[in-house]
Amino acid sequence: MPSTEIKNICCIGAGYVGGPTMSVIADKCPHLHIHVVDIDEQRIKAWNSKNLQDLPIYEPGLDEKIKKCRDINLYFSTEIEKNISNADMVFISVNTPTKTKGIGAGKASDLKWVEACARQVSKYASGHTIVVEKSTLPVKTAEVIKIILEDAQLNSQNSKTTFDVLSNPEFLAEGSAIEDLENPDRVLIGGENIEAINLLSEIYLNWVAEEKILHTNIWSSELAKLTSNAFLAQRISSINSISAICEATGADVREVSRAIGSDSRIGSKFLDSGPGFGGSCFKKDILNLVYLCEYFGLPEVAKFWEEVIEINKWHQHRISKLIVKKLFGTVSGKKISILGFAFKANTNDTRESAAIVICKDLIEEGALLSIHDPKVDKYQIEKDLGIKLNLNEESKSEDHSYKSKGGWTYAPSIKKSLIGADASIILTEWNEYGNIDWNMAKKIMRSPSWIFDARSILIPEKVKNAGLNLWRIGDGSN
Ligand SMILES: NC(=O)c1ccc[n+]([C@@H]2O[C@H](COP(=O)([O-])OP(=O)(O)OC[C@H]3O[C@@H](n4cnc5c(N)ncnc54)[C@H](O)[C@@H]3O)[C@@H](O)[C@H]2O)c1
Repeated sequence: MPSTEIKNICCIGAGYVGGPTMSVIADKCPHLHIHVVDIDEQRIKAWNSKNLQDLPIYEPGLDEKIKKCRDINLYFSTEIEKNISNADMVFISVNTPTKTKGIGAGKASDLKWVEACARQVSKYASGHTIVVEKSTLPVKTAEVIKIILEDAQLNSQNSKTTFDVLSNPEFLAEGSAIEDLENPDRVLIGGENIEAINLLSEIYLNWVAEEKILHTNIWSSELAKLTSNAFLAQRISSINSISAICEATGADVREVSRAIGSDSRIGSKFLDSGPGFGGSCFKKDILNLVYLCEYFGLPEVAKFWEEVIEINKWHQHRISKLIVKKLFGTVSGKKISILGFAFKANTNDTRESAAIVICKDLIEEGALLSIHDPKVDKYQIEKDLGIKLNLNEESKSEDHSYKSKGGWTYAPSIKKSLIGADASIILTEWNEYGNIDWNMAKKIMRSPSWIFDARSILIPEKVKNAGLNLWRIGDGSN
């Protein structure tokens, strides 16, 4: 039976979800003691760093929450056993990437981290523990967790150890995580035991209105999360496919978006065309859905959702190809400035970023990229590209005597990225890229210079009046 009060919480996984989510709960619920645990010592060290600039995750407003709550009622550590044992409620917030080998490789989610967590919980929990799935999981995963926990219960010397499993998927978007957590559209709680559901609801009721807290059965909750991401990704793929038609026909994707978005049945959000969706979730969650459809004998449904990913891939390569075409059919030996590497603005996350595909394509064509991003460091870029850094523009001045072999350098400033470049490509919609002085850019770039605005954040006249050539996504006048 659940206790009547939750005092101690343990969150397993201190990542993009665990860290921000627990920071907001700690802020809103000062009466709770929250321990965020992780096996990654470096990550925990960074969460405990005195310098808030060194937190492992960049999210607007996160540093303030950490400053306010850390070591008051929010703690980061690698002490997994002790904190599970003390917890009344354990959140599982570990990664669930796509399987790379074995059955379902390339599609199904790899549940080894979730299973490991369930085993840890079954081993170390004491008394009654409510286990909350925060990670995005395939439908019916709660059953797996339950089986592991119930097995532990049967074999335990301590018959007083009992569990409830709830599904509470997280809908935050990176880049606005704190805002999303503070003002969620809804909080979804799936489960069977109404007492356990109420105890989790009570936590959210500290700042979320009751009507926004939805209770469903556990499978609906798990499927709703996958479906939500599939619909969002589908919307991006849809508008990106229209951008290609706009460019071919003389239409303008911004005008099309405005026109269709003002239809209340469609709505105006998620209609910005860009370089293709990225992030750790969309592709993985759709692949998961595809796998589930195949598993349950629904190949037509699987094909429908798989196409959302296929068109996204095609769209990213389409952008690299048209850049090469505009630059007289070759980028070999040319310096190209890349502005933005994160998959979206206001995050340092680069997982599945469109920039990775586009940069690799251009390097393959022989370009020398000068990559700038305000929050992504050069080691992360090196890891993502799998190509060693050629030289560091911090230490060596630009000479443009670049060789015909492709490669990349790290630019510590926008200006350094632009010096001597034949083209600049905006791949992430960071605010600062919208404020570039294009007259200055014209002076330091190599003529004839091109600006490729894959995020549609620039005012075209400002770029064109500076004497630069402009290509914008979905602009039929390109
Ligand atoms: N990133 C997002 O925007 C987002 C949004 C909603 C939901 N989700 C889902 O939330 C889950 C977590 O995503 P994330 O982006 O935070 O992942 P992440 O990779 O940033 O963090 C996961 C953390 O879990 C830790 N971990 C793994 N196994 C562990 C174990 N046995 N014990 C302790 N720690 C362990 C890892 O070291 C890592 O630090 C995923 O299922 C994801 O699909 C992510």
